[in-house]
This record gives sequence, structure tokens and C-alpha cells, in this order.
Amino acid sequence: MTDLTDLRAAARAARERAYARYSQFAVGAAVETTDGRRFTGANIENASYGLTICAERTAVFAAVLAGARGIAAVAVAGPDGVTTPPCGACRQVLAEFGAPDAALSYARADGGWTDTTLGDLLPAAFAPISLEAARGIA
Ligand code: THU
Repeated sequence: MTDLTDLRAAARAARERAYARYSQFAVGAAVETTDGRRFTGANIENASYGLTICAERTAVFAAVLAGARGIAAVAVAGPDGVTTPPCGACRQVLAEFGAPDAALSYARADGGWTDTTLGDLLPAAFAPISLEAARGIA
């Protein structure tokens, strides 16, 4: 079973890698894959602001590039005193690789963590099975 305490600490530590030059809002994320590995990510901003990528997606993409295909748990941490749930785009990307019951823990303004699931964050997600059904696979 995933140790969320460790995963949360990894997300907090990953904030140090953020390139948050424009917002000064450093976010860290840590992903535990279904094959038991851990990957971290941080937001990377761009002078063309819209090209910024969030911490959650850099963590997921690092995992995928390393060969992982399933996400078991995710932790996300922003600046102290700020509640940092994943943005909508990241919820969709997480839903591609994580089951609805995959754990997600995000840091709250009061210093605690909110524990939820990918399915609660993005109910009725458009997911791989949607396309597979159209092709008669599922
Ligand atoms: N950000 C994340 O990294 N994750 C989120 O879920 C919300 C927002 C980043 C994007 C941008 O670099 C900064 O936070 C401010 O929006």
C-alpha cells in the first residue's frame, strides 16, 4: 500500500525544482506508479505564459517516459498557506493513467492534507475506455 506520508514529503521537496519565474507559485507533485515506482514533477513556466506546464503533468510524463502506465497515488503541494488541488487539465491527464479509486492527496492552506481520489476529482472522465468502446475493443 502506498505510503502517502512519504509521497506528500516528496511532493513538497519537488517544489524546489519548479521553474516558476512568472507566478512565483512553485508547485511540486509526486506520483506512485502501480509498479511501485515514484516520480516527481514541478511546474515549468514559459515567457509565453500559456505554454506553462503544471507539476502534476511533469510528474506523470516522467513516469510514462520511464515506462510506467498506471498511477496508484498522487500528492500535490503548493506554497505554504495555499490549498493546491490539481487544475482541470491535470485531472484529465491523471485520469488517463489512474483508476477512479487512485489516491490523491493535496496540501491545504491550514497545513493539513485533503485525501481524495481521482474519480472524485473528475467524475465521468473521458478515458481510454471511451475510445476503446468506439473501436469495439471494450
Ligand atoms: N500549477 C500547477 O503546477 N499545478 C496546478 O494544479 C495548479 C497550477 C502551476 C501552474 C503555474 O506555473 C502556477 O501554478 C500558477 O498557476
